[in-house]
Amino acid sequence: IQDNYDIISQWAAAYVVSKIQAARPTEGKPFVLGLPTGSTPLGMYRYLIKYYQENKLSFKHVVTFNMDEYVGLDKQHPQSYHSFMRNNFFGHIDIQESNTNILNGNASDLQAECELFEAKIKAVGGIDLFLGGIGPDGHIAFNEPGSSLSSRTRIKTLTQDTIIANSRFFDDDIQKVPKTALTVGVGTILDAKEVLILVNGHNKARALAQAVEGGINQMWTISALQLHPHGIIVCDEASTYDL
Ligand code: GLP
Repeated sequence: IQDNYDIISQWAAAYVVSKIQAARPTEGKPFVLGLPTGSTPLGMYRYLIKYYQENKLSFKHVVTFNMDEYVGLDKQHPQSYHSFMRNNFFGHIDIQESNTNILNGNASDLQAECELFEAKIKAVGGIDLFLGGIGPDGHIAFNEPGSSLSSRTRIKTLTQDTIIANSRFFDDDIQKVPKTALTVGVGTILDAKEVLILVNGHNKARALAQAVEGGINQMWTISALQLHPHGIIVCDEASTYDL
């Protein structure tokens, strides 16, 4: 638990840097990161870009897998997660585009796209560090309440709560928010060697309490982190109590 959003962002970025640096001697094997979107990780991305600009790290040997993507949004759409990653992270660092993997929500065969994504993760030796945030209802990636805790990458229908929460990025118009998404499963996330979750703000307090103090429960999918041997939650004071 840290005082504020800026400190959790810096903490998470420093953790990522230390892991990438420690992995460097392992020639041939890239460091594999799982990456989130949303407003929560923005501060961490800003710090990572700053450390890159200060020559404190390189992403040349980093491979990334994003958690999720909306179905039906063009990659160039300003609210696609492709655009988010390009604008907020990939466009500012030395990562090779071929090393970044984001689900294609416009694939003609969405099921095959999900299976291919799982196969690519396996082929690269699994995810070393999965970074994530949570929704106010405790969802991780787009694993909405009720998702199987052993789920894999698949198509998911978004809940009304998530559509309303994410409408702030779509002119506050819920009609414009895609109703389905492709998402890694809870099982996919739990397979990572380490999982680091960022949580900030009072509106996440209920979800955080369920994640840490509640039972493992498919209605709060983040609670599955309790099953992981190396799960870390970095949160600010505000998220530890409801207003
Ligand atoms: C979306 C994403 C999640 C993210 C959540 C919370 O639903 N699919 O990965 O954790 O939003 O977003 P924010 O960080 O903006 O609160």
